Amino acid sequence: MSFQSEIIETPNFARVVADEIHASISDVLDSKDQCSIVLSGGKTPASIYRLLGRPPRVNSIDWPKVHLFWGDERWVPKDDLHSNYRLVHETLIAHIDNKPVVHAVDTTLGTSAAGAKAYQEAIINQCGVEPEFDIVLLGVGTDGHTASLFPGAAELHNTTDLCFAVRHENVDVDRITLGPKAFLKAKKIFYIVSGQGKAEIVKKVFEGEDDLDHLPAQIYRKAKGSVTVFLDSASGSLLKKS
Ligand code: 6PG
Repeated sequence: MSFQSEIIETPNFARVVADEIHASISDVLDSKDQCSIVLSGGKTPASIYRLLGRPPRVNSIDWPKVHLFWGDERWVPKDDLHSNYRLVHETLIAHIDNKPVVHAVDTTLGTSAAGAKAYQEAIINQCGVEPEFDIVLLGVGTDGHTASLFPGAAELHNTTDLCFAVRHENVDVDRITLGPKAFLKAKKIFYIVSGQGKAEIVKKVFEGEDDLDHLPAQIYRKAKGSVTVFLDSASGSLLKKS
């Protein structure tokens, strides 16, 4: 695993990260016919997805060769304001003429357990039983979670399954989340974290002692590929200036 962090002046953060994602997708498509990217939810990536969905970037990716997946999803209808699918559709997919291949979580199934099972099968059908996604985007919550792997989650130690239905006291709806087996073989993992409110947790996750059960975002420490942490000057403000 290679690890690097990049602190970017806040006004440039979304543009720099959008350019990095764009370049990574282009590099993958220079070497093969498909690029699989796992998208993160929450608020942080919205501005980045918007930039990817606008000229010039939107016109210089061969989107039909790009397979979009979600690292986690809220167990809500696709048109719900809290849906990560809706976030990506509104900011990115709706603005692309030649559509990417969208592998969304089916939240119309009766239970989140059925949703997780179906999503795991969809991933296996597309990527095989040991998926090696080209790019994985992850955020970090102020409680140290990433995707929907929350502190104390047993799923953090499950290396058998790809996808889980989870419920946690820190959130008010059931979630579907990918787990270590899905994330850790990725070629590239990008953490995307911004805002002063994340400065404390960023220091704990990326400079603190190993404490995966309390800080699930430390999952990267078992990654096989390259890990890059993109921080804006606010979220990275407490890191050692190395
Ligand atoms: C989600 C995300 C989650 C998110 C963090 C940070 O569905 O909420 O996948 O892991 O990345 O909670 O969220 P913000 O970007 O909103 O701070």
